[in-house]
Amino acid sequence: MQDLSAYNSFGLHVRAEDLIMIHSIEDLQKAPAGQVLILGKGSDVLFTDDYHGTILVNDIHGFQVEEKDGYYLIKAGGGLLLDGLIEDLVARNISGLENLSAIPGTVGAAPIQNVGAYGMEIGQVIENVTFYDLDRRCLETFGREQCEFGYRNSYFKKHRERRLFITEITLRLTKEFKPKLSYHGLEGHVFETPYQLREQVIALRRKKLPDPKTVGNAGSFFKNPQVSAEKAEELKRIYPDIPLYPQSDGTVKLAAGWLIDKAGCRNITHGRAGTWENQALVIVNRGGACPHEIVALAKYIVCEVMNLFSIVLEPEVRIYGAYGEVSWSSL
Ligand code: EPU
Repeated sequence: MQDLSAYNSFGLHVRAEDLIMIHSIEDLQKAPAGQVLILGKGSDVLFTDDYHGTILVNDIHGFQVEEKDGYYLIKAGGGLLLDGLIEDLVARNISGLENLSAIPGTVGAAPIQNVGAYGMEIGQVIENVTFYDLDRRCLETFGREQCEFGYRNSYFKKHRERRLFITEITLRLTKEFKPKLSYHGLEGHVFETPYQLREQVIALRRKKLPDPKTVGNAGSFFKNPQVSAEKAEELKRIYPDIPLYPQSDGTVKLAAGWLIDKAGCRNITHGRAGTWENQALVIVNRGGACPHEIVALAKYIVCEVMNLFSIVLEPEVRIYGAYGEVSWSSL
């Protein structure tokens, strides 16, 4: 059995039958056909059990910048760290990804969740995604439309039954530095360089979020729920300070962190699991937590939020049991 504590940012002591580092397409062609699970840095996953199969770790590197008229095409290997890529781009004065600075995880994982922070999502700058289909044993490339990006969602997440290993993504970044400053904490600021914007984003994250290198966590544990405009109005009457984010389809996104905080679940501790003092949406491993302690705390939070607001929170993290991905409701 292989220890997975370095392959899940919660730092849980779970194991897998086997673990293979994938460095190239050739490695993928040789990968076993049976029970496999694809992993990047494990920064958005919760293992509830030892995994009875083989973990394929995306370690495909490679980075290439192609200069075009008015923009760059960046090709990046799926196993690179997203933040390392952003650091490299900023050092070359290539802008467009700074708002995603310091998000833990790999380039290959980014399009699956359509990772987003501080007013942007990766899907907005993706030109295409290349993946190896472990069942059909062939490479395929999807353009942005085919990726079906949504809020923390994509074709790759919707079709989890297909075992698609993301080998490379291509980003399209404009040459002009146009900082995205819609998010509070960035608005009103003047940034001369992508480096300055990146530094400010890193400072904002540090204030609110625990560093997974020192405190086990998987970022936001739940997604921000979307409700009808009527439900949002009803909540606003009762809680005038509730943050509301109206969406283009008429629904309203709520801040799960605010709901959890209001329900009295910020900085609480259950066993060896807890919620972060500066961001209630983050469940942390306070040291030596077992998977069931994380799950029990998450279920408790769901109940408290349900009782107070009649809103069902759903996890953002992906949950893996002994035989693969499992649904939250089955736990
Ligand atoms: N809030 C509270 N108490 C809390 C937490 C938040 O009152 O304990 C309030 C904040 O004051 C703010 C609102 O809730 O008014 C929203 O909080 P915040 O701005 O921190 O952002 P978020 O909606 O909780 C999302 C993403 C984060 C991303 C930030 C910044 C999701 C589920 N989370 O959090 O992404 O970094 O915005 O853009 O969409 C992640 O996905 O892992 C992640 C960290």
